[in-house]
Amino acid sequence: MNPTYDFSGKVAVVTGAKGGMGYATAEAFAKNGAAVVIGDVDEAAIQEAADKLTSAGYTAIGMACDVSDEAQAAALVERAVSKFGRLDFAYNNAGIQAQPSDAADETAEEFDKVHAVNLRGIWTCMKHELKQMRTQGSGAIVNCSSLGGLVGLPERVAYHASKHGVIGLTKSAALEYAPRGVRINAICPGVIETPMVADMLKTQKAAMDDFLKQQPIGRLGTAEEIAQTVLWLCSPGASFVVGVALPVDGGFTAH
Ligand SMILES: NC(=O)c1ccc[n+]([C@@H]2O[C@H](COP(=O)([O-])OP(=O)(O)OC[C@H]3O[C@@H](n4cnc5c(N)ncnc54)[C@H](O)[C@@H]3O)[C@@H](O)[C@H]2O)c1
Repeated sequence: MNPTYDFSGKVAVVTGAKGGMGYATAEAFAKNGAAVVIGDVDEAAIQEAADKLTSAGYTAIGMACDVSDEAQAAALVERAVSKFGRLDFAYNNAGIQAQPSDAADETAEEFDKVHAVNLRGIWTCMKHELKQMRTQGSGAIVNCSSLGGLVGLPERVAYHASKHGVIGLTKSAALEYAPRGVRINAICPGVIETPMVADMLKTQKAAMDDFLKQQPIGRLGTAEEIAQTVLWLCSPGASFVVGVALPVDGGFTAH
């Protein structure tokens, strides 16, 4: 049974929210009473996702947003604040995979592409969310890292570097903002059943089998399990939790 929270009157921003963990988290915020402003680089799909939430009776706005572009990240936050007057929670979820590659062969283009979304994209969003939360003196931010932020894996240099970076910026900002009423944490999902993993299941079956062997719980995680972790981190139940990189990985990184 999922816990419920009273987020009525609260406002949440979620990026990369057309599906997967982003949509599941936006829906969970909405079900618990928050108004949600959701962004994704895929404009048609994010409008569809917002329509789905509003037709279920929730308050939701969808907006095209490429998180690697600071102006677009700023505009997403601005939309939330101009419409609802505040920003209480943010789940910075947008991210992309990199093709597995021998470390000696990975291209600079691939490295830059992954970092632009996975690291710079978290930085752009968090920066503009903090401008509002600094004014309010309150808020909670959850950044999406990965098991790839905690451990290394062969042929994953660029992706894992970007996800390690997310933890670095999370911890530094968390220290800076804890005394100012804003809690910032990161989550490190294991292998979760989402469109990203569906792609990997098709194209990298052997790597996926290996991943699963390392997930002691013996199954993929679900987007809803990630959503519940994000909601808890944003809730008063996590009021003393600051600057953590929380594995949500069925035991993957406990080895
Ligand atoms: N699925 C997993 O097993 C897994 C494990 C660890 C971490 N993660 C991380 O979780 C997050 C969500 O991944 P998911 O599995 O739900 O994948 P997903 O591909 O379903 O979702 C990622 C979303 O981000 C969006 N996006 C991509 N580039 C963007 C950009 N520049 N600006 C805005 N949106 C953009 C995509 O359109 C998509 O909706 C990612 O950061 C991913 O790295 C996933």
